[in-house]
Amino acid sequence: MTQTKKVLKYAIISIGFLLICGFLLVHNSFSHGSENGKDYSENTNHSFVTNHSFVIYSTFYYNHSKLYSDNSMVLLMNTHKNFDTNSLSIQCYSENQTTQITSNIQIRMGSVSAVDCQWAFFIANCSTVTNPHYFGLTSSDNPKPVEIDFETPILDKKYPVIMCYPPMVYEARWQQIIFATEIYHYFGTDLQIQYINSAMKEIVDILEVYESKGWVKNERFAFFDFVDEDVETIGLNPMLEIQVRNFPVASTDCLMRYRESSEFIIVADVDDILFPKHGTFFAEFLHLKHKHPTAVGFMYHRSYAKIDVAKTFEKFSMKNSLQTFQITKPTFYGKTIHQPKYSETAWVHNPGLNNDTTITILPEEHKMWHVMIEAKKVRKVKSFARFTNEKQADSDFEKYTIEKDAIEAIEESFVKTFKNFTNIPKNNNAYTEILYNCFKKHEGWDGSLPCFTPLRCKTPKSVPNFKCKVAQRDYKVRRLADNIMLYLSKNPYSWKSSDNGCQLLSHN
Ligand SMILES: *[C@@H]1O[C@H](CO)[C@@H](O)[C@H](O)[C@H]1NC(C)=O
Ligand SMILES: *[C@@H]1O[C@H](CO)[C@@H](O)[C@H](O)[C@H]1NC(C)=O
Ligand SMILES: *[C@@H]1O[C@H](CO)[C@@H](O)[C@H](O)[C@H]1NC(C)=O
Ligand SMILES: *[C@@H]1O[C@H](CO)[C@@H](O)[C@H](O)[C@H]1NC(C)=O
Ligand SMILES: *[C@@H]1O[C@H](CO)[C@@H](O)[C@H](O)[C@H]1NC(C)=O
Ligand SMILES: *[C@@H]1O[C@H](CO)[C@@H](O)[C@H](O)[C@H]1NC(C)=O
Ligand SMILES: *[C@@H]1O[C@H](CO)[C@@H](O)[C@H](O)[C@H]1NC(C)=O
Repeated sequence: MTQTKKVLKYAIISIGFLLICGFLLVHNSFSHGSENGKDYSENTNHSFVTNHSFVIYSTFYYNHSKLYSDNSMVLLMNTHKNFDTNSLSIQCYSENQTTQITSNIQIRMGSVSAVDCQWAFFIANCSTVTNPHYFGLTSSDNPKPVEIDFETPILDKKYPVIMCYPPMVYEARWQQIIFATEIYHYFGTDLQIQYINSAMKEIVDILEVYESKGWVKNERFAFFDFVDEDVETIGLNPMLEIQVRNFPVASTDCLMRYRESSEFIIVADVDDILFPKHGTFFAEFLHLKHKHPTAVGFMYHRSYAKIDVAKTFEKFSMKNSLQTFQITKPTFYGKTIHQPKYSETAWVHNPGLNNDTTITILPEEHKMWHVMIEAKKVRKVKSFARFTNEKQADSDFEKYTIEKDAIEAIEESFVKTFKNFTNIPKNNNAYTEILYNCFKKHEGWDGSLPCFTPLRCKTPKSVPNFKCKVAQRDYKVRRLADNIMLYLSKNPYSWKSSDNGCQLLSHN
């Protein structure tokens, strides 16, 4: 774009803003500054055109850490991927009863950015006073800090092996979820963290049963439901420019929360199944740690596998599913077990930062299974990260034998847990099929198509009889500097329920 065109473009945007401001002023005088679950107040000034927008998801204070120096604050956020991390004069401000300090902030891209998406995941960190009761960000043109709420990592209990699943979006695969949860628990995962954005109501019910047993912790994960004015301020809807399911933010949130209380963190999907060779996961990973003490993580490559599952909950059995486990040979891109002492951020397949010390387990030694519950979804592998459109031939499968004792114990546990369960899920593949085909269309990852996110997949306005729960969280807007806007999440989360499908954003 030439300079004149640029100026013209911003002039037009500015006029747009003045008009919007006028509207807001009139509008807000009636609505007290809160609409569509978002709140404008104090530092907000809509007469400024700004192009630095930070969407902050979570912020953690570490008084002491395996990875960070004492009294560190860490922020997880999304912003434009071409944002120049050196161009801003932002600082951290913190205070406790006796001391106030202003400190430098370091902002880094948290994982590789997607070629087809405009926005990416960033991590920011700085040091603070001991036990801050206030934390905020300041800039040279705004000496009054913008307050940022923060949390602390989980410290009360030890969980040697944690499992962090990526966020569920339009999730309906209840057989897959039960299958993974039972297996990961049986082989010694101390806690499995599920990030739920949107799922069939009965899946949330199932996960709540597991949560009440202490096997699972459910974290809600909301997309920012931007109102039109903010989409215009930012210049695009960031939710449509963030790859896949904002996976790196959710997985890194999980790493940050459990970093201090765990030794190993499995970052994998519900269809990625690992059977430890050394009895339990802890024994398995200790073995690897012994050989590679300072590795940031251990990557297991994957091969396709399939299981037969019943279509109804009444007929579903872990035993039948495990007995029909079949595997294929070709291997492809894996998933990683992180050592939270060294792993700072997560990306879908490997650590986002410091990935150079990731150890890859040779597929001949051990691998994970990418388990499909429908044979037609087992695809022919073309290369390490590519698939063909054909499905794997039946003759390419071989039976995989799981120890009889394990099968019996897993079946018994499943039956016991759900003996009295009445919120029975029904098979409804509407969203699963749409997402699968939408993903398939995008998997060239060459930038020739718009950013791939489930929010862009064409979903029907309603899916009859699909009871859906969507996690929601309000947001607030604060101006940090003439050219910096902060979009901050507001707790607590709430569920939005619907009887006829999932509505993720109120408009898009
Ligand atoms: C908002 O911006 C206008 C125009 O630059 C300025 O005059 C006003 O003082 C600002 N208000 C606040 C609350 O910062
Ligand atoms: C950090 O905070 C936790 C929880 O408040 C406390 O138990 C722990 O002793 C603190 N650690 C240090 C080094 O201050
Ligand atoms: C802000 O605008 C400048 C000038 O058009 C552009 O070069 C830059 O990439 C923009 N930054 C962001 C974060 O959008
Ligand atoms: C941010 O964290 C990294 C990784 O621990 C550390 O090397 C760096 O010094 C920290 N930066 C600040 C400003 O605290
Ligand atoms: C406040 O922070 C300072 C600097 O870290 C520390 O020396 C002091 O002990 C803290 N005061 C309280 C009350 O925690
Ligand atoms: C991360 O490390 C793994 C294992 O060494 C490697 O296969 C992968 O290509 C690396 N990923 C990136 C993005 O550098
Ligand atoms: C199932 O219900 C029976 C009778 O109400 C009760 O005794 C039993 O503890 C329940 N079992 C489970 C696993 O909740």
